[in-house]
Amino acid sequence: MKASPRRVVVLTGAGISAESGIRTFRGADGLWEDHRIEDVATPEAFERDPILVHRFYNERRRAHEGIPDVTGVSEQGAVSPPRSPVAPNAGHLALARFEKEFPGDFLLVTQNIDALHERAGSKQLLHMHGELLKMRCARTGKSYSWTQDSSVESVCECCRQKGNLRPHIVWFGEMPFFMEEIEAALFACDLFVSIGTSGNVYPAAGFFRLARDSGAHTVELNLEPSANAASFDEGLYGSGTEVIPRFFDTLLSRS
Ligand code: APR
Repeated sequence: MKASPRRVVVLTGAGISAESGIRTFRGADGLWEDHRIEDVATPEAFERDPILVHRFYNERRRAHEGIPDVTGVSEQGAVSPPRSPVAPNAGHLALARFEKEFPGDFLLVTQNIDALHERAGSKQLLHMHGELLKMRCARTGKSYSWTQDSSVESVCECCRQKGNLRPHIVWFGEMPFFMEEIEAALFACDLFVSIGTSGNVYPAAGFFRLARDSGAHTVELNLEPSANAASFDEGLYGSGTEVIPRFFDTLLSRS
């Protein structure tokens, strides 16, 4: 790696939020163990069974915001315990600190739909797979903040009609957001860091190649080697709350 990079692009995935209590997707206790992608995370699923899809994202939004689950009562009749909103961990905070103090260009691209990067203070941030705390009008394409439950009965703020609201999520088969902006940053960067992602979902899984082929040094920070680990220039493995601050604080001290 160049002694002090001037243009840094970071990609994050579910692994960075795991230690904040948000489940990852793949692996033993991943979200896709309990739910079939084709039932809850495709445009076809939403057309076929919007009630199920709204419920799936409502549960995740409630967990994110610390709102008790839908019934508030378990099958055994016990009231569900109070829970707190999820909070950023040392990994999110290290990235926000790096962005604030780094003298060069910085862009953070996340596949995550949680709001932990912004809650940590990150500003140069693109949510390429959408945001859990937003809904979008299917008619006008406008998205806006939404922290409560949604349903087929929810009235859209912009068109004032029912049935037009959908989660502001990029589902399988849909085009991720901000691709032009992201690709331009990848072509221009001299350091690309991939964090907490298994490298299974494209186009994000191919970002390191675009950066590498444009001359950037590529680094992976993850709990374990990802699908593309062997193709990165460098890999640091361990829990995100340890590895991320260590890597970025060292980088900052050399900038
Ligand atoms: N610290 C660092 N990495 C971790 C930690 C941790 N504490 N815990 C888990 N990981 C790593 C796992 O080893 C795994 O490689 O995070 C990665 C999570 O992988 P996935 O669950 O596949 O999540 P992600 O790569 O973000 O998924 C990509 O898939 O379903 C879609 O749209 C969804 O954006 C998501 C996309």
